[in-house]
Amino acid sequence: MDWPVNVGDLEPLARDRLEPIAYDYVTGGAADELTLADNVAAWRRLRLAPRNLVDVSSLDTSTKLLRHDLPHPILLAPVAAHSLFHPGAERETLRGATAGEALAVLSTMSSTAVEDAAAGVSSPFWFQLYAQRDPSATDSLVARAAAAGAAAVVLTVDTPTLGARDRDRRMGLPPSTYPNLSDLPEEPDDTPPHRRVFHSRFSPSLSWPVLRHLLDTSPVPVLVKGVLRADVAAQAVDAGVAGVVVSNHGGRNLDTVPATADALPGVVQAVQGRVPVLVDGGIRRGTDVAKALMLGADAVLVGRPYVWGLTVGGAEGVAFVLDTLRTELEMAMGLLGATTLADLTPDLLWD
Ligand code: FNR
Ligand code: LAC
Repeated sequence: MDWPVNVGDLEPLARDRLEPIAYDYVTGGAADELTLADNVAAWRRLRLAPRNLVDVSSLDTSTKLLRHDLPHPILLAPVAAHSLFHPGAERETLRGATAGEALAVLSTMSSTAVEDAAAGVSSPFWFQLYAQRDPSATDSLVARAAAAGAAAVVLTVDTPTLGARDRDRRMGLPPSTYPNLSDLPEEPDDTPPHRRVFHSRFSPSLSWPVLRHLLDTSPVPVLVKGVLRADVAAQAVDAGVAGVVVSNHGGRNLDTVPATADALPGVVQAVQGRVPVLVDGGIRRGTDVAKALMLGADAVLVGRPYVWGLTVGGAEGVAFVLDTLRTELEMAMGLLGATTLADLTPDLLWD
């Protein structure tokens, strides 16, 4: 297959291959999609200040994250329902992650049960957790994920209810099954349709006691995903989380929250290096990865780009996205005068 030269050029190729309902599901954001657009625009707005006359003959993108030695700081974000994009679903994605040497985060709402997705996978992965309405169901998901080999649990805290997903309301949602949740009864929902904001899969009671219970009981480290506010990040670190993911769910939940590039510095300042800070949303270029690290992130996650890759070329497409971003990151480091990720310091941003 002839690959395009950058990650963004994959999107129209993916669009050509997807049913409109699946394309809208992956592409869309909440309401007027202002945050969705701003996520991309905010990284682009930041300008760079290269440090000249540095010997960049040897570049090192490796990093340590929790206990993982990673060759580069680009992770796969949790995305639901990969069977919409490739018949091999999450197994295909994980093969792509292995080929691209990336840590992947499997979604609670994957098309493949965590045990099946992870079978035979040698590279490390994390499990994204949606707190369930029945706390014992949440406990059992965590136990299953850890037994399947997940090295950490990432509790998504930005989705206690649904947002105004206008595209989904126009198009409907593509039919999917969620085998991680198959043993759960459907919750009866007596709310009239015009007031329906809860989804039977998300717990509207997700709150600090739920996080504290998870921290007390999880056999693996717990990170939180979906934090924008500095005070929430600080409180989560005080509670004992192993990492914070700055995210607005790819602009899919609450429209007009800030771009993650704008929220990141406040969270970094609040966390004060006590745990790793990760960020996702709108990362489309190696320069975006570099900028996130300059603003204090330890690693980034990408969502939609690897879904485009999965759609167009399965595992190879996922690996293409990772390799492209990684190569662009190396190019940026060379041109910025940064030979290691630690050299990606804030002064490399043009003030
Ligand atoms: C997501 N995201 C998401 N997050 C999560 O915690 N659990 C999930 O199941 C999903 N599902 C999901 C489906 C689809 C189709 C998309 C596009 C996104 C959010 C995801 O993890 C991440 O935060 C964003 O996708 C990052 O933004 P970009 O890289 O897509 O701009
Ligand atoms: C989404 C949910 C599944 O963003 O997280 O579609």
